[in-house]
Amino acid sequence: MSNSNTIFLTGAAGFIGFHTARALMTQGHYVLGVDSISPYYDTALKYARLQLLKDEFPDQFIFVKGDITDRPLMEKVWASATKPITKVVHLAAQAGVRYSLENPYEYVSTNVMGHLVLLELARHQKGFQHFVYASTSSVYGANTELPFSEDHSTDQPMALYAATKKADELMSRSYAHLFKIPATGLRFFTVYGPWGRPDMALFIFTKKILAGEPIPVFNEGKMKRDFTYVGDIVAGILAALNRAPQGDVPHRVYNLGNHKSEPLMRYIGLLEESLGKKAVYNMMPMQAGDVPESFADISRAQAELEWTPKTNIDQGIKNFVEWYKSYYAV
Ligand SMILES: NC(=O)c1ccc[n+]([C@@H]2O[C@H](COP(=O)([O-])OP(=O)(O)OC[C@H]3O[C@@H](n4cnc5c(N)ncnc54)[C@H](O)[C@@H]3O)[C@@H](O)[C@H]2O)c1
Repeated sequence: MSNSNTIFLTGAAGFIGFHTARALMTQGHYVLGVDSISPYYDTALKYARLQLLKDEFPDQFIFVKGDITDRPLMEKVWASATKPITKVVHLAAQAGVRYSLENPYEYVSTNVMGHLVLLELARHQKGFQHFVYASTSSVYGANTELPFSEDHSTDQPMALYAATKKADELMSRSYAHLFKIPATGLRFFTVYGPWGRPDMALFIFTKKILAGEPIPVFNEGKMKRDFTYVGDIVAGILAALNRAPQGDVPHRVYNLGNHKSEPLMRYIGLLEESLGKKAVYNMMPMQAGDVPESFADISRAQAELEWTPKTNIDQGIKNFVEWYKSYYAV
């Protein structure tokens, strides 16, 4: 393909990274993927994702197992690329709101230092074009004005995870200002779908419902989330990648959400329907660091990225259940 690029993709073995790699290579691009295969959740799932990428795209995918905070290794990987790296999709992170209360150092190491290592590589790369990175809806923290708009304040993080992602946005902004590195931060809203994360609600609920175990329902079910299908998130990443910000400070942030705030109990109801099995609810209080509601204003992404989510949760949950049952041979 004549207009193909090599994209440096971090977090390639992760949930969103795997789907992004697949979509990029389907478009004919080459992917140089990096991931440390962190043990935060089942590494077998990460290796299975990687195997599928290697099987499907044997000539387009190169994978390096490594930590993004390892500067000498990252410099070596960039230097070894056959064509200069000019585009980055940076998705590697220590994710999860709740775990940041238990293991804070991992968040600052990967999310702050790791982010800086990559910005520095971009800064010193001749002809560098675009640095696209993952932020999160969690940056809205204690903001209660709904739907969350990019113009709202993000100065009140509720957990360290959100604080480190906000730091990423600020560091990227400063590099755009100082060194004219075009950068785009994407604030993802609760992403779900096939090959999803075992630490997230949909996965936990599915596993427990099938095992006949009670599911933990936080804030006694009185929560609302803007659940966004992974296929839509990937479409947003690709749309952003093709549109590097311009101007004096080429940095822009976008909400990528489904623009529907769904009650948690409806999400659970749809899952029960898809599984053909009722759940036993274990009603719990609100978890520390969590927010009761998220809801994305997506007008900026619609106008500037020409992006609109297409998958409702009825279909998205069905797709997840289908994948789960086939992957775990249920
Ligand atoms: N899934 C969501 O709902 C969601 C919501 C908002 C933001 N995000 C962000 O999107 C990005 C992707 O998330 P995901 O859901 O795919 O998570 P994930 O945990 O599945 O993927 C992240 C990947 O990064 C890797 N990683 C962790 N530390 C690393 C390090 N130091 N060096 C190299 N690799 C490392 C992990 O091994 C993992 O495979 C993350 O930046 C996350 O913060 C996700």
